[in-house]
Amino acid sequence: MIKRSICHGKLISSLRLSSSLLSKHGDQQFFTSQAAAALLKETKSPAHSDDEDLAPMDWDNLGFGLVPTDYMYVMNCSKDEHFVRGRLNHYGNIELSPCSAVLNYGQGIFEGMKALRREDGRLFLFRPDQNAIRMKMGAERMCMPSPSIDQFIDAVKHTALANNRWIPPPGKGSLYIRSLLLGTGPVLGLAPASEYTFLIYASPVCNYFKEGTAPLNLYVEEEYNRASRGGAGGVKAITNYSPCLKAQARAKSRGFSDVLYLDSVDNKYIEEVSSCNIFIIKDGRILTPATNGTILPGITRKSIIEIARDLGYTVEERSIPVEELMEADEVFCTGTAVVLSSVGSITYRGNRVEYKTGTHSVSKKLLSTFMGIQTGHIEDKKGWMVEIN
Ligand SMILES: Cc1ncc(COP(=O)(O)O)c(C=O)c1O
Repeated sequence: MIKRSICHGKLISSLRLSSSLLSKHGDQQFFTSQAAAALLKETKSPAHSDDEDLAPMDWDNLGFGLVPTDYMYVMNCSKDEHFVRGRLNHYGNIELSPCSAVLNYGQGIFEGMKALRREDGRLFLFRPDQNAIRMKMGAERMCMPSPSIDQFIDAVKHTALANNRWIPPPGKGSLYIRSLLLGTGPVLGLAPASEYTFLIYASPVCNYFKEGTAPLNLYVEEEYNRASRGGAGGVKAITNYSPCLKAQARAKSRGFSDVLYLDSVDNKYIEEVSSCNIFIIKDGRILTPATNGTILPGITRKSIIEIARDLGYTVEERSIPVEELMEADEVFCTGTAVVLSSVGSITYRGNRVEYKTGTHSVSKKLLSTFMGIQTGHIEDKKGWMVEIN
């Protein structure tokens, strides 16, 4: 039996039924801050309930694909204004002007984070303030207004709680929470949009790679670069991702898990994988590319660096020539979606190098500490875990 809070079921019922808390307007349900506060308060003391409160899913076979959930969060604002009030809508398609800035010029950024269910029924987010800060930085780079840190965290909490029945049982995965900030106003000549939409949806997920938890086999890409100096590689711009598809598809068709990109100036220094950061370990020292604007400053990356230093490892953030990668003892990737994935091999110019993986590797030690903090088995001394119920 899974121990969970009976109040979560109540919350969903409240969201569906209570007209006193939610003012209905068409298909939209406005989630007032008083109502939100009342609902959050109502869920404060965990009790236990049966598995029936969970969505009818095959929790043992979750992958990393969209499973539509019940609610999404939407908040709009105009250029030169601030976001004020959001609402929870039923999950579904949105209407967009064909001339919207996001469709025509890719004016959009996103964030990815996870809600986790613990054995005792409590629900947590991992460092949501960091996602909120990164979204603000991305918005500034892409000339968009952004939600405040508090608005962002509040919206994520409400989305997670409203979709509580889709948060997998402990050990079976997590609820992936995707927030988007989009230029939705129409714009014909290149300029920032006049209207903006902040939207959050969620999907239960488990392993990102088809390999599951097995080591990854990466291919060092030399023809295509992911980002260039002065570009937007250092923010989570939606435009950074489709240019990766070609190299990724080619690598996958050759049996690789994903692509590792090199810098665009010398094609010599390692940068990151399509959707995660990279680390190498040599003689007990941990190295990772510095964040100089061409790679995403990952929140998992930052957390793993801190954990590694706490465990006594030396961590260097600097340029890493591909030759150094080929001589490493261990390699691993980090990211919200991939968590910490060991790399079993890297292929560069036809040479395949294999790395240490498995129980006695440094990466396993880092992963178990990281997971221990997330699951509550290791004390969270840093205040990284934010309880939401
Ligand atoms: C390009 C890229 N690099 C790195 C990461 C890892 O970042 P984080 O650890 O914040 O998820 C991601 C995932 O969000 C990403 O898309």
